[in-house]
Amino acid sequence: MGEPFAEGTRLLQTGIRSGEDGQSLPPAWLAGAPYEKIAPPRNERTTVAPMTAQIIDGKALAAQLRQDIKQRVEQRVAAGKRAPGLAVILVGENPASQVYVGSKRRGCEECGILSIAHDLPADTGEERLLSLIDELNDDPTVDGILVQLPLPAHINEEAVIERIHPDKDVDGFHPYNIGRLTIQMPTLQPCTPRGVMTMLESTGVELAGLDAVIVGASNIVGRPMALELLLARCTVTVCHSRTKNIEEKVRGADLVVVGVGRPEMVKGEWIKPGAIVVDVGINRLESGRLVGDVEFDSAREKASWITPVPGGVGPMTVATLLQNTADAADRHDPV
Ligand code: GUN
Repeated sequence: MGEPFAEGTRLLQTGIRSGEDGQSLPPAWLAGAPYEKIAPPRNERTTVAPMTAQIIDGKALAAQLRQDIKQRVEQRVAAGKRAPGLAVILVGENPASQVYVGSKRRGCEECGILSIAHDLPADTGEERLLSLIDELNDDPTVDGILVQLPLPAHINEEAVIERIHPDKDVDGFHPYNIGRLTIQMPTLQPCTPRGVMTMLESTGVELAGLDAVIVGASNIVGRPMALELLLARCTVTVCHSRTKNIEEKVRGADLVVVGVGRPEMVKGEWIKPGAIVVDVGINRLESGRLVGDVEFDSAREKASWITPVPGGVGPMTVATLLQNTADAADRHDPV
């Protein structure tokens, strides 16, 4: 008979807790801060219901992760190496993108990462953008290249993503990096799902065997999130706009990750008692209030753990980008 859990051996390459021995063994160049260093004290998973969920404090975890990255960068520099460099390209003046890019650049400064800003006008041609990426691919001081999405409609996003060298693709969007994640050999991983995995790790809950439901099948969140949770040996269902009866799927889930950009679409009443709820959505209501894709107050009464909005996944996405940049620098120029 074949080895029933052969994937467990591959998991040892990923940095995801193996489950069997609790060891985290990432490949050397991916070795970032161990999750334990940014985790609050471990809590046992509780199956008792009803309950008020514990909060997974993304803001605090992100601050701790940035602190760890800052130390890594200081150690690199003390060892005579250059600081990591991240080039962030913004095309046009989309206000939301300007906010996101601003927080990425501030995060670099805080961690000692060299931030290289390229702000291009909205009418920049695709060829001009591609040739800038070529220059940055060849620049040995640049470890990471990020092109903020969405791009203006006249630019082909796939062509831009594929032009970034996979070793500098700190967004983890290049087909090579997505392919590596698919075959359980992750290299640079998409930031939001990797950040969510760090948040889940901080709870101490064993993920293997959980029924995970992801609502939203985007390239940035839902799809790579499915690959991460599969790697952690969850049983994964991905819901999208044509899914029949999303409510029923969510009701059966031990772990729910929602990233659709629809305010409070997932009702608290749908949450299975004791489930873990991760809300990737950030929506501004007409009142000006920020809400997620999950009805927070009512979901909190059912869940065991829940991420808030704001202060949940958002800050972890930015901190994870910095982590990916530090990982890329360690690979390009090992200490
Ligand atoms: N736009 C929204 N989220 C992201 C992201 O994670 N990376 C990039 N490059 N653009 C985005």
